[in-house]
Amino acid sequence: MSGFRQGYQAVVLGASGGIGAAVLAALENDPRCGHVVALSRRNDGMDVTEEGSVRAAALRVAEKLGSVDLVFDATGALEIDGHGPEKTIRAIDPQLMARQFAVNAIGPALLIKHFAPLLPRDRRCVFATLSARVGSIGDNRLGGWMSYRSAKAALNQIVRTASIEIARTCPQSVVVALHPGTVETGLTATHGRHAHKVTPAAAAAALLSVIDRISPAQTGQFFAYDGTEIAW
Ligand SMILES: NC(=O)c1ccc[n+]([C@@H]2O[C@H](COP(=O)([O-])OP(=O)(O)OC[C@H]3O[C@@H](n4cnc5c(N)ncnc54)[C@H](OP(=O)(O)O)[C@@H]3O)[C@@H](O)[C@H]2O)c1
Repeated sequence: MSGFRQGYQAVVLGASGGIGAAVLAALENDPRCGHVVALSRRNDGMDVTEEGSVRAAALRVAEKLGSVDLVFDATGALEIDGHGPEKTIRAIDPQLMARQFAVNAIGPALLIKHFAPLLPRDRRCVFATLSARVGSIGDNRLGGWMSYRSAKAALNQIVRTASIEIARTCPQSVVVALHPGTVETGLTATHGRHAHKVTPAAAAAALLSVIDRISPAQTGQFFAYDGTEIAW
């Protein structure tokens, strides 16, 4: 990754997921990367709906690495506790909708709260979080999936808001929401069965290439895996 200094340090959050594991593997194979730390709910108990576990994970990373040039958040869920996305307004369930917001919007907000303080103030650094194109309000032509869509739309606003505040202390920061494409992972095993999917390795390579190219002037935006901007 040429956009970062030699020996740059990275953290992958949600490294147990399909895309997270592929991003971790790509960073481990990058000769410029000095250290990469993997964190997940499954292997490290970092649950984004439990703030204490996020705080503790960030403290461990701070002790180990000091500062972090790249925080890559690959957490998120389409199906939660066996409940898939709703097809119609009639299927809205307040508890399930709240769970969607807890995992896909509030969770990443807590990751930003606890991991953004590890970004260096004196050089280019990136906090990237995986959103989804279906979270775009401007691009919504199909309807359906109301809870997942609206939680990702909230995430996009969280990213934009955080980017402005973080830029005040870290002027070379890049805080962005990314759409990974349709990727062959557990998340798309049941939903989107018939869509054309790319491998997690291909998605990871594309996303890291976008991260490499984005400049601090582009902080607070929403990009697809091919580097194109997505409407909010
Ligand atoms: N796959 C696609 O086509 C696609 C398309 C658009 C957007 N996305 C987004 O990309 C991200 C990653 O998706 P994926 O396809 O890699 O899915 P995945 O294979 O199901 O991985 C999901 C990851 O999220 C973690 N996670 C879920 N709930 C969590 C919680 N409460 N606390 C902490 N970690 C939690 C999982 O951790 P554990 O397994 O350790 O519990 C796992 O690491 C998601 O935000 C998804 O919305 C994916």
